[in-house]
Amino acid sequence: MGSEHTRERALQLLEEWTKGESLRKHGLAVSVCTEAYGAMEAARCGLKEDEAKEFVGMYTSAGLLHDMDYERHPTQEEHPFVGVDALRAEGWPEPVLHAILAHADYSGVACQSHLDKALFACDELSGFLTACALVKPTKSILDVEVKGVLKKMKDKAFARAVKREDITTGASLLGLSVEEHVGNCLGAMQARAGNLGLAGVASEVGV
Ligand SMILES: [Fe+2]
Repeated sequence: MGSEHTRERALQLLEEWTKGESLRKHGLAVSVCTEAYGAMEAARCGLKEDEAKEFVGMYTSAGLLHDMDYERHPTQEEHPFVGVDALRAEGWPEPVLHAILAHADYSGVACQSHLDKALFACDELSGFLTACALVKPTKSILDVEVKGVLKKMKDKAFARAVKREDITTGASLLGLSVEEHVGNCLGAMQARAGNLGLAGVASEVGV
């Protein structure tokens, strides 16, 4: 990646294109999960230092940028194509653009690379994990447990907009069980709970 293609630039672009807080938070949550998968894959491939940093950076950026254009261009004719065109004009690396195209299952671009698969797999799950946190009395992701998430996945009435099938398909694309995939993403989001605004609220009683 060019030196200008940083996490900071990706965040800046997300904020330029997206004014809504929940879509910004979504990009951030997905990026935390994809970044964790990038770090695992970098370690598996034996990448070190600068090479590893650049590799993981593509995962972070793909997470932050994948829905960048959704607020302005939500139709299937435009999302994520308009965003990808803008990113290509800025010279963002092809693997990042490919993953963003592939996360939209109607784009005609198949999930091929590990990055493509990780982005697809984390997109719906990060939203589901956020929903699991927000129903806790503390609203904290730190109080969410893998087994509770798996149980809620079977409850069709809970967070009904989240496509369970994308979560299970995503896990199998990554060669993981759903339990492992949930554990990886939950762990990643818990480690960055503060950044995601999911570290919980102090009880109003007795404060
Ligand atoms: Fe998304």
